[in-house]
Amino acid sequence: MNILILQASPRANGNTAWMAEEYKKAAEAAGHEVTLVNVAKKKIAGCMACGYCRGKGEGACIQKDDMQELYPLMNGAEVLVLAAPIYYFTLCAQIQAPIQRMYCVQKPAKVKKMALLMSSYSPGVYDGATAEFRDICNYWGVENTGFVSAKIDEQKTEATKQKVVDLVMKL
Ligand SMILES: Cc1cc2nc3c(=O)[nH]c(=O)nc-3n(C[C@H](O)[C@H](O)[C@H](O)COP(=O)(O)O)c2cc1C
Repeated sequence: MNILILQASPRANGNTAWMAEEYKKAAEAAGHEVTLVNVAKKKIAGCMACGYCRGKGEGACIQKDDMQELYPLMNGAEVLVLAAPIYYFTLCAQIQAPIQRMYCVQKPAKVKKMALLMSSYSPGVYDGATAEFRDICNYWGVENTGFVSAKIDEQKTEATKQKVVDLVMKL
């Protein structure tokens, strides 16, 4: 399958980036085609709710920022993986902007399955993050293949790597 991973941590050597790489390696080993994008390095503004896309824009967003590169990738992906650190008990802002900017196309055109990779310092369920992820999957009508979360003492460990591999195997 054609997989797109949106890696949203600004820390290039952090745990989220590591989990995203491990997901990519395991997916490629299983024969999938994978594109990994570091969205934290992109300039992607929040949705302005201007309504242009629902009128004159005919599905196109009026904001010409780095989201323009992401639209074809998100619309071409069959699997969308969100990789994000937890900031203030939920998914970081860097992942929220590209998701919310999909408003103009309603949903990514071909996505059938989604997965979530999360990093945090403290242990916790982070209901806000998992509920948001679940609701997006339901709203877009795609299969929720699950999530892997890693708190500080679980980061970059073999056990976490195995959980990521297991998540890939659910595709
Ligand atoms: C602005 C900010 C808010 C954070 N909020 C939380 C939090 O609510 N709960 C938590 O456990 N960790 C929190 N953290 C810690 C990060 O989630 C943690 O360091 C995580 O491993 C970062 O992922 P990374 O290694 O991919 O950058 C926060 C960090 C920052 C910078």
